[in-house]
Amino acid sequence: MSQIRAIRGMSDILPDETHLWQHLEREISRVLTAYGYSEIRLPVVEQTALFSRAIGEVTDIVEKEMYTFPDRNDESLTLRPEGTAGCVRAVNQHSMLNTQRKLWYAGPMFRYERPQKGRQRQFHQVGVEVFGNDSAAVEAELILLTARIWRALGIDGEVQLQLNSLGDQPSRKRYKAALVEYLRSVEEQLDEDSRRRLDSNPMRILDSKSASTQALLAQAPSLLDYLDDESSAHFARLRELLDANGIEYVVNPGLVRGLDYYNRTVFEWVTDSLGAQGTICGGGRYDGLVEQLGGKPTPAAGFAMGLDRLVLMMQACGTSVPVPMADVYFVAAGDAAQTMAFRLAETLRDVLASKTIVVHCSAGSFKSQMKKADKSGATVAVILGDNELDQQAATVKKLRSDDKDNQQNSVPFAELAGVISELIQKEDP
Ligand code: HAM
Repeated sequence: MSQIRAIRGMSDILPDETHLWQHLEREISRVLTAYGYSEIRLPVVEQTALFSRAIGEVTDIVEKEMYTFPDRNDESLTLRPEGTAGCVRAVNQHSMLNTQRKLWYAGPMFRYERPQKGRQRQFHQVGVEVFGNDSAAVEAELILLTARIWRALGIDGEVQLQLNSLGDQPSRKRYKAALVEYLRSVEEQLDEDSRRRLDSNPMRILDSKSASTQALLAQAPSLLDYLDDESSAHFARLRELLDANGIEYVVNPGLVRGLDYYNRTVFEWVTDSLGAQGTICGGGRYDGLVEQLGGKPTPAAGFAMGLDRLVLMMQACGTSVPVPMADVYFVAAGDAAQTMAFRLAETLRDVLASKTIVVHCSAGSFKSQMKKADKSGATVAVILGDNELDQQAATVKKLRSDDKDNQQNSVPFAELAGVISELIQKEDP
């Protein structure tokens, strides 16, 4: 029979990579907790209208990347392509906006994009959102905490921060008009996608991938020249806070982001080490979104980082992450010995709750079982056979000791837990 395979762009994460993922998730959650953020867990499926309203009808995500389907009741549902919309829906729905809120979430997101290295159809994000504070200090804190995460992951030497300000709505409108006027004058020379966007979403042309369009954009008016005074002051304050904390950045006036909800600050962390998919984290301020989704007017800012890309970067940078190994490995010859191995292992697990205790479950010669024990990385093997059962004492063999004279001992079953905990402490403190 033919084999059923995973869907294109939706990958399994196999055991020899999961320890990297667990390390990454632990470090991120540790840093976020240290900055006072609380975790929120959100559904993977939402009403389609939530995303079209939040992300924008004429964005790539809503136009062509969403997994949208009718449920059995003919309601249009969508697998979340990002987390901000769902998070805003949740804070509105649960009236969580009375105090300033600092939230984070993690999980899979879904976009129907062309899969390639660093670009998946099911990918994973950690997102962070702050509600109820309109100061640049919020953005500075968000950026500082991401910089701390990069250091914790050992990838800080490979990333660059890019910043821009989109200003407020009226200033953006003025800029858009000037941009369109300029682009109309060179319309013939634009790539096809950009020509199409000229009517629907001209600001997105700024991050066109076409080299010839980028060359034309060098002469285009700059967003920063159109900023309103308040947005300018806001942006200056953010840069002052980053400078004071030694965070390096480049201001990129072409950075506009692919989602429509932003105003004022937008930022991305980018890297050259992943090829074309070089953005590992992106976000910004989105003061209008809470109200746009039916809540009371509330300023907000946030970002999301792509975990799949961070894992690739950790691999590229050789970040060292300890691979989990067994601590104790039980080897047993015969059914009666295996039964005893199970009982003894359970008592050991009661005492050594944080250690990994493996019982060899299949049959196999003594020699092949010992080979497995060695490969497991265990500090000690506990060996049980007829002799050991007769004497009610296990043979305990140190597998990593240099002390050649003292590698194997007979230990009464009743003393096994105590002796092994001491041994493990000594050999692998
Ligand atoms: P985004 O820029 O669309 O922003 O996605 C954030 C990050 O998710 C990207 O920088 C990238 O690392 C990762 N990512 C996006 N698409 C893919 C993909 N197909 N495969 C692998 N990784 C991907 C947002 O999603 C906003 N919700 C961020 C935000 C939160 N803004 C404010 N608050």
